[in-house]
Amino acid sequence: MENLNYIHDAAAAAAVAAAYETPPLAYVRSYGCQQNFNDGEKLRGVLLDIGYGITDTPEQADLILFNTCAVREHAEQRVFGNIGALKRLKAANPRLLIGVCGCMAQQPQVVEKLKTSYPYVDFVFGVDGILELPGLLARRLGGGRRAMQPPAQRAAVIEGVPVRRDSGFRAWLPVMYGCDNFCTYCIVPYVRGRERSRAPEAVLAEFRRLVAAGCKEITLLGQNVNSYGKTLPEPMDFADLLELLCAEPGDYRLRFMTSHPKDAGKKLIDTIARHPQLCRHIHLPVQSGSDRILAAMNRHYTAAQYLDLIDYAKKTIPGVTFSSDIIVGFPGETEEDFAQTLELVRRVGYMQLFTFIYSRRTGTRAARMPDPATHAEKAARMARLLKTQEEVSYPAIAALAGRDVRVLVEGAGRRAGTVTGRLDNNLTVEFPAPESLVGAWAQVHLTGARAALLTGERIIAKE
Ligand code: 5AD
Ligand code: SF4
Repeated sequence: MENLNYIHDAAAAAAVAAAYETPPLAYVRSYGCQQNFNDGEKLRGVLLDIGYGITDTPEQADLILFNTCAVREHAEQRVFGNIGALKRLKAANPRLLIGVCGCMAQQPQVVEKLKTSYPYVDFVFGVDGILELPGLLARRLGGGRRAMQPPAQRAAVIEGVPVRRDSGFRAWLPVMYGCDNFCTYCIVPYVRGRERSRAPEAVLAEFRRLVAAGCKEITLLGQNVNSYGKTLPEPMDFADLLELLCAEPGDYRLRFMTSHPKDAGKKLIDTIARHPQLCRHIHLPVQSGSDRILAAMNRHYTAAQYLDLIDYAKKTIPGVTFSSDIIVGFPGETEEDFAQTLELVRRVGYMQLFTFIYSRRTGTRAARMPDPATHAEKAARMARLLKTQEEVSYPAIAALAGRDVRVLVEGAGRRAGTVTGRLDNNLTVEFPAPESLVGAWAQVHLTGARAALLTGERIIAKE
């Protein structure tokens, strides 16, 4: 497998400097998953490296870049709507450059639509195209033609890309890219290509830099982190990688996502149990509670196998919480199948659920399956799922009242004079404290809950 390194493009930087009297500003907007947000941080890093400044205001920008998501149709429609709204900005400022990248740009029919129906889009590149961005910009600034080709996928890991992180105290750390699972509903393996892992040395080096820079929460990312290491010259697994990282001293905690239940084993659970810096929370997307639907989804586990793993984790890691992704209305899902999903949700007792109505993605196997249920039926199931989830999680969250916990303060709370902090188990607590505490650890006494949000009081240690 190819390993590529980012190299500063001096010619592109010179072209940017020549095209503007003062440093131009770039607006980068990312949609979708954490992996894509991390890609967005790299896009900003590269733009800074060739002389752009970064702005949060599209109206001020000389370059607007949409880093898109293709996982559901709704996300794509939103992007098309937002690109449509840029026509006005381009009319007001003909020198404005507009680019579209990410997962949508990896689909030929999307590139075709952008080419013909959105003439004010200047360039398009796919998920592995970050190395081409400086050259693309330089050519367009030099009067070159629109660049609208969907680039071929590269089975490469790209190292050394500059990153402009959104937060000073939390960071995403990708450990693998792509997905080989081909769940039948999912477009990701088609747009993000084959699984490939970063070398453990590269992950460890970035991890050390983050810890040394004072980063307190690091989230390891991958479409399926449990596939980590399979493609390495010296194969290792994800639990081994966690061991390697946890041997590093420092005041940090580690999260990871996403785990595929078929590859998450007892070794992973035992590893979490052994290391206090690994958060007591596992995001383990189940997608459905029906074995028939799980087979049609190509998920390679049964509800009973999934529950065995959950039971083992509950027994082995005291206080562990779970979250999950669930798809409602997969083609052919019956009332009986759906009832099994509700049953599983009750049995696991998830603290959080990310729920999606099935969205047909062109090119996937499920797109060719008969799908007789109406949207109204699926929406009604979704409402029942959310209600069940609230019945399960709200009392479990409220039952944590009375405990003292350590949290990482993340931002201002909804009520005046409060902040929110995240617990080790991924729940959020709101408590009175000054905003200057954001980015720091705090000890909090939990007093109750409003819906899924815990409430508490800060414990200030007496000298
Ligand atoms: N329709 C609905 N939800 C989907 N997901 C992935 N593909 C689809 C689709 N076609 C959901 C899955 C996955 C999450 C990231 O998005 O639940 O775990
Ligand atoms: Fe999609 Fe399945 Fe891969 Fe997740 S594991 S990205 S749902 S194909």
